[in-house]
Order: sequence, then structure tokens, then C-alpha cells
Amino acid sequence: MASFDVIVIGAGPGGYVCAIHCAQLGLKVGVVEGRDTLGGTCLNVGCIPSKALLNSTHHLHEVHENFEKMGLMGANPTVDWSKMQAYKQDVVDGNTKGIEFLFKKNKVTWLKGWGSIPEAGKVKVGDEIHEAKNIVIATGSVPASLKGVEVDEKTVVTSTGALALEKIPESMVVIGAGVIGLEMGSVYSRLGAKVTVVEYLDKILPGIDGDTVKTFHKILSKQGLEFVMGAAVQGTEVKDGKATVTYKLNKDGSEASITADTVLVATGRKPYTEGLGLEALGVEMLPRGMVKVDDHFQTAAKGIYAIGDAIPGPMLAHKAEDEGMAVAEILAGKHGHVNYGVIPGVVYTTPEVASVGQTEEMLKEEGRAYKVGKFPFMGNARAKAVFQAEGFVKILADKETDRILGCHIIGPGAGDLIHEVCVAMEFGASAQDLALTCHAHPTYSEAVREAALACGDGAIHA
Ligand code: NAI
Repeated sequence: MASFDVIVIGAGPGGYVCAIHCAQLGLKVGVVEGRDTLGGTCLNVGCIPSKALLNSTHHLHEVHENFEKMGLMGANPTVDWSKMQAYKQDVVDGNTKGIEFLFKKNKVTWLKGWGSIPEAGKVKVGDEIHEAKNIVIATGSVPASLKGVEVDEKTVVTSTGALALEKIPESMVVIGAGVIGLEMGSVYSRLGAKVTVVEYLDKILPGIDGDTVKTFHKILSKQGLEFVMGAAVQGTEVKDGKATVTYKLNKDGSEASITADTVLVATGRKPYTEGLGLEALGVEMLPRGMVKVDDHFQTAAKGIYAIGDAIPGPMLAHKAEDEGMAVAEILAGKHGHVNYGVIPGVVYTTPEVASVGQTEEMLKEEGRAYKVGKFPFMGNARAKAVFQAEGFVKILADKETDRILGCHIIGPGAGDLIHEVCVAMEFGASAQDLALTCHAHPTYSEAVREAALACGDGAIHA
């Protein structure tokens, strides 16, 4: 048995960041993690491995689509799937070992095993019970199940299985046009699979700015992804190594089905809080296993905090990290805070899609007077040079004060470009503040400045 100031349960981006920051602030901290490696879903079977596969297949797409246009003739790489998988695993291993190194460097103790909380101030890991002044639940989430769909992680897979298929399927049905569905759908489409996305709603990427999503949908269709929209999946049936997905169209209730080698179920995730013993401790729970916390991330049980996918808000690694930092500050007697108005979201397809703040739909619903500054990448020399000029940057600003309210980007490097707008929003900047900032030429970021200019007297190159 050991005693700690803080025990964090879960070593994903929320938990490990929280633990390292607690240690930086002088607290004695232990982290309970039952996987063989640190980093949680994100590093092991989520953000990081998917980015490796997105990277290699992006290059493959470039070879096929653009090399000859650039005068690079005769390239015709074949795909060695096991080598691509090994590359993906190397990327994962490098990152998970990196966290282990950071734990040692910061004197964070890894308590190996699965944890539960038998009583306030105590955490059980295997047969051992440790003491903690404070406990932080950072247990993340797992794929939500879908009625009538049985996942076997071979033919019918979640994102975890989709990252490690035995072979590249000839056909794939993706259930759900959310972030996971579109990222992994892109990977397999670029690898030559015929990908059909079946989505319940009438538009892809729920919650993202409508204008942006419309353009994105067109681009993905041009890349070869097929979409069945307004279709509720009823179930799947596996026979002879293939799966048949049955769906019902919302518009007329008619039923249809598609058969494919692989079915990816990407219809959302749910908090992973079972087995911790929370209810018995008086922790107030919300539907679907979500934990209720106050403004300081404290649950209804004193000394027990929760962050990340286990509590309300977008299920994003960086949102969990920020909450982890904030809780560490609070536990060290400082003022931890997360600005939920400025949490970017990125889809790592080609082109990337990134957004922060409010969408036009939200502003309309609020009845807020706003203006739109939109600049197409067609007017950006750098984007044209890399054949990625189809998208745009759109900045939404308050009509009266010019304060930036949101930004939506579809185009090259969107996931990095969004951050200058995030910083601007953190400082309460106006669109004019951005427009008056010198941007190097030629860069993609000039498109952000041009969109800011378009909120005022007008963009130069449009
Ligand atoms: P999601 O919530 O983003 O999308 C799920 C989609 O499935 C929705 O469009 C929904 O309408 C549809 N759907 C639900 N039931 C259906 C049915 N019966 N038939 C047809 N369609 C149905 O969920 P997703 O993509 O699984 O991602 C889970 C979480 O992981 C999200 O919170 C996401 O933000 C996060 N994530 C973030 C990434 C990033 O930031 N790049 C990458 C991967 C995941």
C-alpha cells in the first residue's frame, strides 16, 4: 500500500496530462492503468494510429492523383499491408513509451492494473489498496453499441478493429458519417476499397458548420466515397465472412441492404465508468454512464473528481487534456479553468476540416447579428500549388463589435491553421485584429487573414 496526494484512474490524454501537471505542482501522484502501455484510447487505438494510416494513404493518394501533374513520372507503389501496420505500430510504440519516460522524469508512479474505489480516499488496484487525498476519474470512453449489430472485430468492427484489419477489404460499409467514419472510410477508400457510408441524418459530421459540411461532402464523394443519407441502420448479419447491413430510409420507411467484406460501426462512444463503484460512493451519474461534476470537476462525492470523456462535453483528447491541467491546478490550490467556447475540432482527412467557436446555425438560433468573412483557397497561391484549393476559410464575427465568434476551415493544414483563430478568440480579438497581423507569403495562413479582411472592407485575392 502506498499513499498519494492524488491518484488518477486512467492514463489517456486526460489522465496522464493531469498526473504530470500534478507532479509539476509538487503533488505526489499515482496513475492507475490496466493496459500494457500508457496513453489510453488516443495513443493506442485512436488518434495516433489512425493518423499514421491517414498519413501513408494520403501519400498513396498523392502518387495516384498528383505525381504526374508535378512531373513525377512512373511511380506506382504497391501496398504492403503488414509493413503499413508495422509503421503504425512503431508510431504508437514511440508515443506510448514517451509517456512512460515522462512519468519517470516527473516521478509519477504507474500503478499497473484496473482500479476501483472501494471507499472514499482509497483506490484498489488488483489486490492492493492505495490511499489518496484526492481521486481523479479519467477512464475515457468505449464505442457505443448499436441495436441489432454484433461486433466481432473481424467482419463487423469498431474503430479499434478497423485499425488492424487482417487484410484490406474490397468493400466496406461505414455506419455513421461522424469523425471516425469519415477518417477511417477515407483510409480504406484510398487503399482501394469501395466505401459506402450509411448515415441517419441528412448531413455528414453532425454539429459542424453546414456550409463547410456541404463542401466536404462534395469533396469526399469526388474522392470515391458513396453516401446513403437519412438511413437508420437496423442491423447486420454475417455470413461466409461477409456482412449485410440493413437500413430503413427515413423519408419513406423503405428497407434496403448492402453487403460488404467489412462493416465499421462508428455511431459514437459512451463513457467507460462501469466497475469503478461510483454509485455506492454517492457520485451522481447522468444517463449513459456519464459522471456529473461541478464547475471545479468535483463529483457529488467530496475528493472525487472526473474529467474527459467520462463527463459531459465533446469527446476530444485535447478537451480532456485541458480539464486534466485544470484539475491539477485546483488540487494544488490554484485556479484551474477551461474555456469551453474555444475548443477546436479537427477531422484529419485530405483536405482537413477544422472548426472552433460558433457555427452559423448556432448564431441564427441565438438571434445574434453576425457577419461572415469567407475566403476560398482558390485565391491562395500555396494551396493551388498542392492541388488543394477546393475549400475555404470562414470567419464569423459579431456585426457590431467585430469580435470573432467562430471559424470554420476546409483546406490544407486546416487543423493547424485553426489555432491562430483560437488564440485570437482567447484574447477576445476582432476580425480586424487578425486582418492587421502580417502573415508570411506564400502560406496557407494567408487565407485566414483574407477571411478576416473579408469581415471588413474585403479580401484582396478574391
Ligand atoms: P459521432 O458522434 O461523431 O458520429 C456518429 C454518427 O453516426 C452520427 O452522424 C449519427 O447520426 C450516426 N448514427 C447513429 N446511429 C445511426 C444508425 N442507426 N444508422 C446510421 N447512422 C447512425 O461518432 P464517432 O464518429 O463514432 O466518433 C466518436 C467520438 O470520437 C466523437 O465524439 C468524436 O468527436 C471522437 N473522435 C474524434 C476524432 C478527431 O477529433 N479527429 C477522431 C475520432 C473520434
